[in-house]
Amino acid sequence: MTQPRLFDNHGRPLNYLRLAVTDRCNLRCYYCMPAEGINYLPKKELLSFEEIERLVSILASMGISKIRLTGGEPFVRTDLMQLIEKITHIKGINDVHITSNGILMGPHVKELKTMGIASVNLSLDTLDADRFKKITRRDEFDKTWNTLQLLIENKIQVKINAVVMDEKNIEDIIPLVELTKNENISVRFIEEMPFNGEGSHYAKLNWTYKRILEHIKSSFPNLQKISDPENTTAYHYQVPGFKGNIGIIAAFSRTFCGTCNRIRITAQGVLKTCLYDDGVLNIKDLLRAGKSDDEIKTELLFAFNHRAKDGVEAEAARKQHPILTESMSTIGG
Ligand code: GTP
Ligand code: 5AD
Ligand code: SF4
Repeated sequence: MTQPRLFDNHGRPLNYLRLAVTDRCNLRCYYCMPAEGINYLPKKELLSFEEIERLVSILASMGISKIRLTGGEPFVRTDLMQLIEKITHIKGINDVHITSNGILMGPHVKELKTMGIASVNLSLDTLDADRFKKITRRDEFDKTWNTLQLLIENKIQVKINAVVMDEKNIEDIIPLVELTKNENISVRFIEEMPFNGEGSHYAKLNWTYKRILEHIKSSFPNLQKISDPENTTAYHYQVPGFKGNIGIIAAFSRTFCGTCNRIRITAQGVLKTCLYDDGVLNIKDLLRAGKSDDEIKTELLFAFNHRAKDGVEAEAARKQHPILTESMSTIGG
């Protein structure tokens, strides 16, 4: 990554944008959405491709160099490949990543490789088709699995995201670790956060990163800590001799905020400077009010200079909605 040029009020570099291109999804994951009764945004409430390109260009000129497209499920947005192509050509954007459930991605994998997509983070919480159906409320395991194979064949770097949930996928933890034996992939185990649109599933989080680690160590006592990339959310480990590695993401415990280099733009065009805040700037309104690039930059800089120091402070400062009403599908993860 190039030298950071943009910093927040705590001296943390900001160079990573997570952009949710839609709030829609073809799954209904237990940890992300209720089974029914979801109110999707009307299309006009989403940023248009032109608005996204303009905004990404502005942010790139300020110092953002890495972008991750998220959703909802990004491939549910019509003509997503056209948007990706455009984003890869924006000056200053060095690497483009995607977080996806993989269901609609298969036919596009070759082209993504040609476009130079840096990596794909694939949501896959279980290796069992029945449990997949229970967690996602859709019978689509095979499509995600096939996409995983295509990504590996086409040598696109893959990270698997598995949210760890009591009574849902604990029996998958060890088989998921074993996936890293022969493949150079990273499997990340994620603490569940209460962003599912219907309220927290537990009085207290049972599967904290510490418990996940202990559970893995009980089957792999020689598990080794390996180095973590800069600004990482995951603590990385490896089973000696395995080609890939594992990561544990303390998403709820929020132990990595001190090095957080990321900003988010939600599906409705709102800036979040922390996953746990409730939106600090409505950028869509600025774009649609005819503000100039410089005027928008001034507003963005103000927000970057007023960032909460961590996710706990950001959560406490929320003004509008309690955290429990939010779904990950609009935030983008
Ligand atoms: P890379 O580091 O680029 O691989 O991406 P990532 O791991 O940040 O992205 P991904 O979309 O795969 O997210 C994996 C998990 O980490 C999801 O559950 C995210 O919600 C969580 N996560 C990502 N960024 C943050 C963050 O800033 N704070 C918290 N608490 N969780 C985060
Ligand atoms: N808690 C933790 N992780 C979540 N994700 C989605 N919802 C939640 C949640 N409530 C993860 C999924 C997806 C990534 C963007 O966020 O694993 O891959
Ligand atoms: Fe869809 Fe991703 Fe949410 Fe699952 S986590 S319902 S795949 S947006």
